[in-house]
Amino acid sequence: MIDLPHRSPALAPAALDTLGGHTTRQLLRLCEVAGLGAADAAGYAQTLRTALGPVAERPLALPARSRSFLSDDHTPVEFSLSFVPGTTPTLRVLLEPGSGVGSLAQSGRSGLRAVRALARRWDVATDRLDELEDLFFPLSPHGPLALWCALELRPGGVPRVKVYLNPAASGAARAAETVREALRRLGHRQAFTTLPDADRLLFFALDLGDWDDPRVKVYTAHHDLSAAAAGSLSRMKDGPAPAEIEAFFRTAAGIDDGEDTLLERRPVQACHAFTETATGLPGGFTLYVPVRDYVRHDGEALDRALVLLRRYGVDSAQLLDSLAAATSRRLEDGVGLIAYLALAHQQGRPPRVTVYISSEAYAVRPPALLSAQAAAVR
Ligand code: TRP
Repeated sequence: MIDLPHRSPALAPAALDTLGGHTTRQLLRLCEVAGLGAADAAGYAQTLRTALGPVAERPLALPARSRSFLSDDHTPVEFSLSFVPGTTPTLRVLLEPGSGVGSLAQSGRSGLRAVRALARRWDVATDRLDELEDLFFPLSPHGPLALWCALELRPGGVPRVKVYLNPAASGAARAAETVREALRRLGHRQAFTTLPDADRLLFFALDLGDWDDPRVKVYTAHHDLSAAAAGSLSRMKDGPAPAEIEAFFRTAAGIDDGEDTLLERRPVQACHAFTETATGLPGGFTLYVPVRDYVRHDGEALDRALVLLRRYGVDSAQLLDSLAAATSRRLEDGVGLIAYLALAHQQGRPPRVTVYISSEAYAVRPPALLSAQAAAVR
């Protein structure tokens, strides 16, 4: 068992704490771990509060204003740390800007307003998003989300912005057509046909602003996946060897070599990233394993993350500090703080291991019983 570094207790008494208070304190502590300066951190915390909108002031003693699909306990915020060898990890925050403002349609419109306000503030162009508005924001949208946005918190106070849209906005039956049309409008005419077979199209994402190669990303969900099937998901040009993806999948899911278990509790996700439009082939591939559904508690999820970080030559001190920045509970006392473990490949870059950290503002999922224990209890 690994003890997390000690941290001082939360400043506000729990009963008076608000969603904005809780999540911005987590953000400030995480910024410190990620080596961001105090001024940048304060700016990012203010941005998070503003982007959340009125729900930021809502006391945590009240139930979540809406059942956000962003996290299991419906906190509309999730953190992640992306690790490459030799540098400090990049801290990102994913949030649902329009959460709790009313219907999905209202939430989508308010999310769009929030993203455009952020874009104006940092002089980021939104034209690629504007071109897709009719596709992803119909008058009566379907769920499970309308718009999420992620900020990559760089030193200097200006984040990189990513926007996540719902392929099923006009109905699940039209998701494929929606994604195909969105890709076409952005110049990626052949991209859709390169995607692997999937059970569901989950997100359509856009990089906005100051990126070297702004990406268009399509996320697919894969039910009952085996390690071998995970290994053959990538369609990336010069992408990872199937054996590498298989090994990541096995470690993250806790499946021994030679064992042929399928992940049945929650689908694995894949993301293909498109930048150039000439070949239609994706230049990036990411595999997301929902580790929280395949461990008893977060101590076990951390062990798996540590094995993976070691395999990729990454120092793990910052992961331990980040978990302590997000929570003061013992890792063995719950499951879901570590939501996903992901492996990202992008052409011309070293692979990245990303750890998704839940805010748990509303609830901690109790640890699961081992099946052997569960049988003994019965
Ligand atoms: N909560 C959703 C899920 O678990 C969406 C989500 C949040 C997600 N963060 C993610 C999906 C990171 C993939 C990777 O599916």
